[in-house]
Formats: sequence, C-alpha cells, structure tokens
Amino acid sequence: MAGEKDQNPGKDERIGLERQAADSEHAAKIAGDIPSRDAPDKPAAPKKRRKGRHGVAMNEVPSTGHEWDGITEFDNPMPRWWLWTFYATIVWAIGYVIVYPAFPLISGTTSGLLQTSTRKQVAEEIERFDQANSAIQTRLASVELDEIPTDPELSSYAANAGGAVFRTWCAQCHGSGAAGAKGYPNLLDNDWLWGGSLEEIYTTVQHGIRDPLDDDARYSEMPRFGTDELLDRAQIDQVVNYVLSLSELPHDGGKAAAGAEIFADNCAVCHMEDGTGDRSQGAPNLADAVWLYGNDRETLTRIVSEGPFGVMPSWSSRLSEADIRAVAAYVHGLGGGE
Ligand code: HEC
Ligand code: HEC
Repeated sequence: MAGEKDQNPGKDERIGLERQAADSEHAAKIAGDIPSRDAPDKPAAPKKRRKGRHGVAMNEVPSTGHEWDGITEFDNPMPRWWLWTFYATIVWAIGYVIVYPAFPLISGTTSGLLQTSTRKQVAEEIERFDQANSAIQTRLASVELDEIPTDPELSSYAANAGGAVFRTWCAQCHGSGAAGAKGYPNLLDNDWLWGGSLEEIYTTVQHGIRDPLDDDARYSEMPRFGTDELLDRAQIDQVVNYVLSLSELPHDGGKAAAGAEIFADNCAVCHMEDGTGDRSQGAPNLADAVWLYGNDRETLTRIVSEGPFGVMPSWSSRLSEADIRAVAAYVHGLGGGE
C-alpha cells in the first residue's frame, strides 16, 4: 500500500530524510529557530494534552522521536514506585554483600560481617542432636548386646537410629527395604549365610566379610573349580545337575547321580553332605529355595567354575560403636533375626 510505504520509508529513503533533517536543522540554526529533530515531511508527534491519573492535566510529555505506524513513543519517566523499588534492591544487595557470604574465592567465599555459614549451622544442629542423644548412645554402646532387644528405650532408639544408618550406608547394596539383590543377601528372611542372631549380625557388620582391610573380617573362599582346573567341564556339568536335584529343580538324573559323588568329594566339606551349608564358613544352603547368585544352569556353572567371592565392607572404622549396634539391632528386628 502506498500510504504504508510513506510511513515506513525504505533504508535509502530514510538516509535521505535524515540528511534533509540535518540540513533543515542547520538552516534553522542560522535562522535562529531550532525545530524538532523530526524530518520535516514526517508527521509531527501528536501534540495532545494528556490527562493524568486523577484527571489533572499533565505537562506535555516529550516524544523520543520514534514512531511506527502512527504510534508515537513518549519519553515518559519510570513510575516513582518502580524507581524506588529498584534503588531499594541495589541498597539491599550492597548490604547483603557486606553482611553475608557473597563472592566466591579460590577456596570458600567472602565471609561477610555476620560470619554466617549454613555449613556451620548444620554442624551445630548435628552437634545439638548428638548431645541430646549422647546419654542413650553411651548406654547403647556399653550394655550387653542381648539387653538391647529387651530394653524398650534402647530397642526403640536402635530401630530408629539403625534405620537411618541402614538407609545411608547399607541400602545401596542390600536395597532400601533390605530385600537384597543378586550377590547381595536378603536380610529380611531367615536364611543366613553367617548367622542371624544379634551377636552374629553385629560381628558381620563390625568386621565385614572378605574385606581385605579388616584382619578380623569373616573369611572363606570357595575354590575356583573350573578356572583352577580342579574339575573338568563334564564334571562341573554333573555336579551342577546334582545341585539342581537338591532343591528339586529340573535336572538330568544320570548326570546328577555322577555329580553326587563329585559333590561328596569336593563340596561337602563346606556345603555339608546334604547340601544344607555351613554358617561357620558362610557356605550357603544349596538345598533350599533361597539363592544368593541364582539357580539357573548358567549361573551355577559360572559360580562353580569361577568361585564366588562376595565382599561386604567392614564398618568398624566408619561407624561408631553405637551406630553399629543400632544397625545390627535394626537388621535383627527386620523379621529374619534369630
Ligand atoms: C558394598 C556393598 C555392601 C554394603 C554397603 C553393605 N553390605 Fe552387607 N553384604 C554385602 C555382601 C556382598 C554380603 C554377602 C557376602 C557373602 O557373600 O558372604 C553382605 C552380607 C551382609 C550380612 C550377612 C548376611 C547373612 O546372611 O549372614 C549382613 C548382616 C549385612 N551384610 C549387613 C549390612 C549392613 C548392616 C550394612 C550397612 C552398615 C551393609 N551390610 C552394607 C554387601 C554390602
Ligand atoms: C571352601 C568351602 C567351599 C567349597 C569346598 C565349596 N563351596 Fe560353594 N560356596 C562356598 C561359599 C563360602 C559360598 C558363598 C560365597 C559368597 O557368598 O560369595 C559358596 C557358594 C556356592 C554357590 C552359590 C549359592 C547361591 O546361593 O547362589 C554354589 C551353587 C556353590 N557354592 C556350589 C558349590 C559346589 C558345587 C561345590 C563343589 C564342587 C562347592 N560349592 C564347594 C564355599 C565352598
């Protein structure tokens, strides 16, 4: 549309208009009459008398000289309230930087006049709780182990504190509900590798299992029958069939019969003649429905060939005596405790 083109001059045209404006400004200066910077052929900013909020006529507001499609941009000042809010935020920020930690330094931050630190607050909170609990923790750490479940105050404290310890330190391996996973025993059932009395659980947690960093860790090592060529492939296949037969899983009867002899010679020292296991060596019961690694043929063949070597960390260097006792009591109280 022609009209629109007039109001939106092209680039070249605009440069032309600006030149004209400069020229006319120059001419006007000479004549002692300086007009607005608007190009002479641009429509002048509408000179309306505007009414203020309360109907009071306001002074003429100057235009910024910007205009699009007949809409003129006025050079209105920012509202007072907005400006003051803005200045207030600046003052607040300066005050904040002086009083509170603010700028990062190479290690840490500027500390601020108040020397506050959320880290310090957390440490103080922990300290406060530790102090509040110190009496019961001392008692928990010093009584005979078997007194814990019978003392109502100790057992309820141990269940709470032990649950917290468990969720922090044990759940990543044993699961948040303690139901375990492949290679990580379920602590809810009454099938125990090393023992399910409070005393046994306490020893397991305190020193760990096969943890090379703790000399008192529980230790045993099932031989690697395949890797170390103690048995050949066919023999391993036979003994695996025998193990399957122990818990009445599908198996080859002929192979299992041959496997029974291999079992008696090689496995019964640890897993016992009837396959029910030996807790003093952490050797699992092979005749029940509970499996640490799995009861499929491949898993069993791999376990017998390569030998399992489950490691549970020792906690004596990481947890306090009270925490170890609390978590042992917690695990003992989960349902499988003996
Ligand atoms: C890094 C993984 C890991 C963590 C963390 C861990 N455990 Fe274990 N835990 C194991 C493994 C693996 C075994 C089984 C070891 C084996 O095969 O004999 C085990 C065994 C146990 C047993 C013996 C179970 C039985 O049948 O005799 C108890 C009790 C136990 N864990 C408690 C805990 C408690 C309590 C914690 C937290 C303080 C914890 N575990 C943290 C890996 C872990
Ligand atoms: C020196 C003792 C020892 C001997 C001998 C031994 N085992 Fe084991 N066995 C263990 C121990 C200990 C474990 C558990 C290891 C672990 O938790 O990491 C185990 C675990 C197993 C498992 C895994 C059970 C599960 O619940 O997943 C199978 C299967 C097994 N043994 C079969 C055999 C067979 C078959 C033989 C003989 C060919 C044998 N073992 C000989 C000590 C022994």
